[in-house]
Amino acid sequence: MTASPSDSLQELAALPIGMFDSGMGGLTVLHECLVQLPGEHFAYVGDTARFPYGEKSPDELGLFSRQITAFLETVPVKLIVVACYSATSAALPALQERFETPIIGVVMPGARAAVETSRYRKIGVLATEATVASGAYPRAIHSLDSGAEVVQQACPGLVDFIEAGDVASQALADAVRGFTEPLKAQRPDVVILGCTHYPLIAPMLQRFLGRDVTLINPAAEIAREVEAMLLRQGLERPGDAMGSYRFYTTGDVERFRDTGARFLQMPLTRVRALPLERLAELVAP
Ligand code: DGL
Repeated sequence: MTASPSDSLQELAALPIGMFDSGMGGLTVLHECLVQLPGEHFAYVGDTARFPYGEKSPDELGLFSRQITAFLETVPVKLIVVACYSATSAALPALQERFETPIIGVVMPGARAAVETSRYRKIGVLATEATVASGAYPRAIHSLDSGAEVVQQACPGLVDFIEAGDVASQALADAVRGFTEPLKAQRPDVVILGCTHYPLIAPMLQRFLGRDVTLINPAAEIAREVEAMLLRQGLERPGDAMGSYRFYTTGDVERFRDTGARFLQMPLTRVRALPLERLAELVAP
């Protein structure tokens, strides 16, 4: 029997969705995708050896993103989600130009939700230094509403608390107060959580920003966008069976398993090492 285009579509639909981040943070994006798309397989790369991305240069982020995307294409996967705001901000257009697999970033879905939600068209963004410096959020928001006002606040060091499992200390609360006060003073009515880790401290951020501010967690929007893309392209995995998940880390496997289980609140059984040398073979530094 010869292969027909529908055979190859079925084979493609059975592949996992690829996803990557600088480490654990992208698991907040994976979580939303698991809720929205329980029947899909996922292959997740956490570049924990090179965490954090939020302090890296655009060139470094471009290289790391190309290397991991090239790796995910070898898995192979049917779609790639850049589940990191810093990497999306620095590298998404270049990745989309270079690779064949469809690639979705995390900035635009949150920007769209913010524009739809903001009554006063004054949108705040909390993000890493790299994301703020890239100007990706103002660009995305202004492509949807040229007259919207965007106020950005970089939060250097904030991810370190959360990555270390601290979501409640006084030191964290002091840091959050320092970042939210200047943003609140500019009176946005909507604030985008423009970093993978911030949804994990959403209650604290909401308290400091006050009840008049609506927080946007872009992860849920991204999951909906992934679902819409699969449906339109006829690439949803058929059948009712639950999907499976595999994880790759450039850092320590046991640490990824432990911290990942805490982020995702489920045991991570299939975690494999992905040495940086393997990534350098795929795309030379
Ligand atoms: N994943 C990064 C982001 O969303 C946050 C953590 C880091 O700086 O690597 O920007």
